[in-house]
Amino acid sequence: MADQPEQFDVVIIGGGPGGYAAALYGAGLGLNIAMVERDKVGGTCLHRGCIPAKELLETASVLRTVEGSAEFGITTSEPTLDFSATQARKQKVVDQLTKGLEGLLKGRKVTTFHGTGTLHADREVRVAGGESGDVTLRGDAVILASGSATRTIPGFDVDGEVVVTSDELLALDRLPDRAAVIGGGAIGCEFASMMSDLGTDVTVLEALPKILPGCDEDVTKVVLRSFKKRGIDVRTGVAVTGHDRGEGGTTVSFGDGESLEVDLVVVSVGRRPLSESLGLEGTAVEVDDRGFVVVDEACRTAEPGVWAIGDLVATPALAHVGFAEGIVAIDAILGEEPIGVDYAAVPWCIYCHPEVAFAGYSESAAKEAGFDVVTSKHRFTGNGRAMIVGETEGLVKVIAEKQGDGTGGRILGVHMVGPWVTEQLGQGYLAVNWEATAAEVGRFIQPHPTMSELFGETIMSLTGRSLHG
Ligand code: NAI
Repeated sequence: MADQPEQFDVVIIGGGPGGYAAALYGAGLGLNIAMVERDKVGGTCLHRGCIPAKELLETASVLRTVEGSAEFGITTSEPTLDFSATQARKQKVVDQLTKGLEGLLKGRKVTTFHGTGTLHADREVRVAGGESGDVTLRGDAVILASGSATRTIPGFDVDGEVVVTSDELLALDRLPDRAAVIGGGAIGCEFASMMSDLGTDVTVLEALPKILPGCDEDVTKVVLRSFKKRGIDVRTGVAVTGHDRGEGGTTVSFGDGESLEVDLVVVSVGRRPLSESLGLEGTAVEVDDRGFVVVDEACRTAEPGVWAIGDLVATPALAHVGFAEGIVAIDAILGEEPIGVDYAAVPWCIYCHPEVAFAGYSESAAKEAGFDVVTSKHRFTGNGRAMIVGETEGLVKVIAEKQGDGTGGRILGVHMVGPWVTEQLGQGYLAVNWEATAAEVGRFIQPHPTMSELFGETIMSLTGRSLHG
């Protein structure tokens, strides 16, 4: 007779941000949790995504600072880049965070099983193919959090040399002289910005008429102006049709018979959910035609006792959305009435230079949704802290519902571009999600001198009053 499955309150398949957040949060509330992971805990975000990408972008920022230091009266010899040292530092940050996460999981007594988990009937999870050997687990509840993988397009087989996705790019030991980035989404823009600042000649090829989906037009314009100034060629409305490998590099064909010779092609055309390796036979879990697991607002699948979260479900593919969904699932498992994530108003932060951050409706999306809106826009040009730092490019734009007297009422969206905006979005996000009005938020004090004064000014001007501008 087969061994009895090991019993847990919750079995989680996948140890990325969604899975580990659910594990930590649930274990903190007293649940006995097993987490199954076939690679290292931390998932795409920690090993092949957010963390390593932002670390490389920070290197680009340091180089820009050193190159601009003469303005501050600091002269240095011409800075040079040792990309292997950059990579070593990136790895150190990743390793430290991985160790920290392992420690947290251990501290909360989460049992981690190493191997590939598959879900079967009656919430049984079979683990195989890893250090933990073949193990069978059963959870009173199961959370599927197996994440996503990079996508490519026909004709662009990833070889890790000339054609790469974010996975391979983050591990390169040297940057190319010339690169084509296919796709102008968050990944494409971050890599274009980083590579260009570190010396690569970059062309972005985007099929749609605009880059950065979801961003307000005024924000996109600032990014495009900066990219152009720094020599990044952004071509929109051009579908990439194929490429022809030559000596060392390749020639990419796009648009109306145009072509471009490069050393590296970075394919950043989105990600796909990893549902195909989850088993699911004998369960009622539904998978849609794109491979996403279908869930309700509390992340429940069609199989009783089985939840799904993170990039595996058709919600924004963001680590912090995975965190939030992990919390929702655990609250539901505990029998509480969870408050579902408001997906229309999640915070977005894109770490290209200049940085982009937003929550809620852009002006055009608010109008399309039928709102009568009033907007206010203030630029960093006159902001003291921005001048001190030497980065005055950018703006804050707030979109609010128009009231009878023409002033701004409920805040519908906060969109930012410029210095440190990814660190400034917090109060904008809070305002949107609290459904606060301009009059309420406009009364709050912003410390001086800070970049966040611009948010205060922008909100205040929606009330028909102003301080500086
Ligand atoms: P994306 O879906 O945001 O953008 C991909 C872009 O590629 C689209 O604009 C699409 O029109 C374009 N495209 C598709 N096929 C094309 C073709 N044949 N030729 C030219 N252009 C083509 O996907 P991305 O940037 O790869 O990011 C994947 C996910 O990762 C996103 O959902 C994003 O939320 C997340 N992410 C978020 C980050 C952040 O918030 N800082 C950073 C990195 C990723």
